[in-house]
Amino acid sequence: MKTGKIAVLAGDGIGPEVMAEGLKVLTTVEERFNFNLLKQSALIGGAAYDKKGHPFPDETKEICDNSDAILFSSVGGPKWSNLPPELTPERGALLPLRKRYNLFVNLRPIVVYPGLEQASSLKQELIKDLNLLVVRELTGGIYFSDPKWKKKNEAIDTMAYSRTEIERIAHFAFQAAKERRKILTSIDKANVLMCSKLWREVVTEVAQEYPDVECNHLYVDNAAMQLIRKPKQFDVILCGNMFGDILSDEASQLTGSLGMLPSASINAETSFGMYEPAGGSAPDIAGKGIANPLAQILSCALMLRYTFKLEKAATAIEQAVQQVIADNIRTIDIISDGCRQVSTSEMGDEIVKILVR
Ligand code: IPM
Ligand code: MG
Repeated sequence: MKTGKIAVLAGDGIGPEVMAEGLKVLTTVEERFNFNLLKQSALIGGAAYDKKGHPFPDETKEICDNSDAILFSSVGGPKWSNLPPELTPERGALLPLRKRYNLFVNLRPIVVYPGLEQASSLKQELIKDLNLLVVRELTGGIYFSDPKWKKKNEAIDTMAYSRTEIERIAHFAFQAAKERRKILTSIDKANVLMCSKLWREVVTEVAQEYPDVECNHLYVDNAAMQLIRKPKQFDVILCGNMFGDILSDEASQLTGSLGMLPSASINAETSFGMYEPAGGSAPDIAGKGIANPLAQILSCALMLRYTFKLEKAATAIEQAVQQVIADNIRTIDIISDGCRQVSTSEMGDEIVKILVR
């Protein structure tokens, strides 16, 4: 039987509620597909700060260091946003997690599930059957380069990229495109930024190794516009760290339902990864039992695919999510006429029912 170890970091806000449903579904697929994951929970984010004085405490580091993957929910909330920057959940936990485990590939699949078209603010014909993949570089660029400081009247951030950093993310994106519709759009601002000039040069070189993938380059401002004008022209969108942050939020709203979108942050050299819903901690609805757990459940599928190479189990989860939508079962964020509204935990139960059918 295949075995592995995962760190379970539920974090803040709706994190613990949606994590419970993710774990419920994982246990079900473990039985059905005969594998076993040892799950160790640890504190992260504001919850960790409150109990241990730091958003990413040593005990949590140790559990993550000894795992094959991290299943993550969300961190942050108004309670912790005025702490010194290095102690906030974002700067003190999320970015250090990405750096510590060299999670340089961030995948954000943007999928409009049949039946959810009306959730988008775009015309239905523009987004029907939309399926695109944002591949974001996650450990370099302006987020992590030095110098970086702020004084009273001046501040500086630095954007730096090396050839190696661009090459490795580009290879991942081209390989992903090869398995999909074979169109890759690389995003930059090569008319202004030196990093972008290098980015475009390196991506163009890497493209030579993938002659069956069509490679296009777009300036980021044009890409932002094209994404809402005609989103289905895209298949794989390759971006550096900051442009990927911005365009992935924009792309997520094409689907209209942030509660449906998983994300994977991977060290492509070791397969270690961190898997989390894209939607954040949503403190306003925490504890009410109404959060949509499907993004967390889909994040479990990404973990099984990318870290544990359990493709069948991953696909089974994704099909169950598709089925639950087809069966008109909805949490409140995606409800529409004629559908049955369920709570967070009922949604988890419905997915389990489909998986054991
Ligand atoms: C994301 C988030 C983070 C980022 C924040 C919370 C630091 O917006 O994962 O997209 O900017 O990367
Ligand atoms: Mg973001």
